[in-house]
Amino acid sequence: MGLSFELPYFPRKGLVEDVLQILTSGLKQGVTLFAPRRQGKTSFVRHELIPAAHELGWKTLYIDLWRRRGEPELALVEGLEAFLEARRSGWKRRLRFRQLRAKASAGAAEVESTLEPVSFTPDAVLENRLDFALSALAEKDVTLLVLDEVQALAGAKREDFVAALRTVIQKLQGRLLVFYTGSSREGLNHMFRQQRAPLFASAMPVQLPDLGDDFIEDRMVFLAERTRARIDEASLRNAFERLGRTPEFLNEVILHLLIAGNGNIDAAMAKWMQSHTETGAGALLEELRPLELALMNMLAQPGHPSVYSTESVAWLSRWPDIDASLTTAKIQAALKRLTRMELVAPTGRQGDYEIEDRAVLLHLRAGT
Ligand SMILES: Nc1ncnc2c1ncn2[C@@H]1O[C@H](COP(=O)(O)OP(=O)(O)OP(=O)(O)O)[C@@H](O)[C@H]1O
Ligand SMILES: [Mg+2]
Repeated sequence: MGLSFELPYFPRKGLVEDVLQILTSGLKQGVTLFAPRRQGKTSFVRHELIPAAHELGWKTLYIDLWRRRGEPELALVEGLEAFLEARRSGWKRRLRFRQLRAKASAGAAEVESTLEPVSFTPDAVLENRLDFALSALAEKDVTLLVLDEVQALAGAKREDFVAALRTVIQKLQGRLLVFYTGSSREGLNHMFRQQRAPLFASAMPVQLPDLGDDFIEDRMVFLAERTRARIDEASLRNAFERLGRTPEFLNEVILHLLIAGNGNIDAAMAKWMQSHTETGAGALLEELRPLELALMNMLAQPGHPSVYSTESVAWLSRWPDIDASLTTAKIQAALKRLTRMELVAPTGRQGDYEIEDRAVLLHLRAGT
């Protein structure tokens, strides 16, 4: 955070091969990749998947649904349309023609009135626009559509939208491939619950492989090329472990090392923690109410009790400024708010929640 320089990308061993294997097998039309925030999903797509798809002669289109998560349906449809527009494929002309034909079959009088306006008017029904744009996208070439942060669609206000998306994708089997990424389990659970038939029925899940010792070795080489300071590889590996194996955080610690110009990993870690306290994690936590903060602290403990248990109520009651009359209803309300803020997510096990953002988790564990 606050450091704009990007360290080199390190490939996720075997992942791109696995994804292409699934997509070229013809057995599955899509692949899902779900991993927590900041773990490197988007980086994988940009650095590995899209270039590999181009090598296979596929067209690609990347749409980030998170950026406009308030209106993810529009983000998707307009993203598709903007891409087609830029490609100048003449897709609007064909659309107009189709609209005319549809109206012609409705009656001659209708045709009279629709022949006049030659300019393009988008279909008022969003699902129709989606259908048309996706069909145009995959008309000629095999196309890989990447939907980043697809859980944003769980917030879609139109009930039918996700169902329509699923139908169009199925219709375009053989020409359209889809790669879904997501980070919020809560959002996903939601999508599965709300839309009975899952969008991902036609997709196969893959895991983001953890970065291991070879990643650390690679960073050591990077450091050796830039600093004379002696850096202990085991300490760097240990730091990566403490950072929840989040590459972004290790990259930041490495930059702190380079700035300090020495091999003091502990000092670099302290600097890292401080910068996160000032900007992201700390600021977020300051806005919480006492019970919410207490819950966050409890969830940060390894092996914490189940949130509604007597043990949990007792733990939370000991926290400063907590009302003596703590009830499970109050805990539930606080969790609801934390979930909405995307600070926590249900794990899927009854009464179990986890902290979404690893920087927040590490910050709480450090007790600062
Ligand atoms: N394989 C990698 N090698 C080196 N650095 C990486 C790698 N993957 C991720 N990073 C670093 O982590 C940062 C965050 O990664 P990225 O944005 O891809 O994560 P994400 O999972 O898409 O996160 P979000 O859920 O917030 O969208 C990158 O900017 C990069 O600095
Ligand atoms: Mg991302």
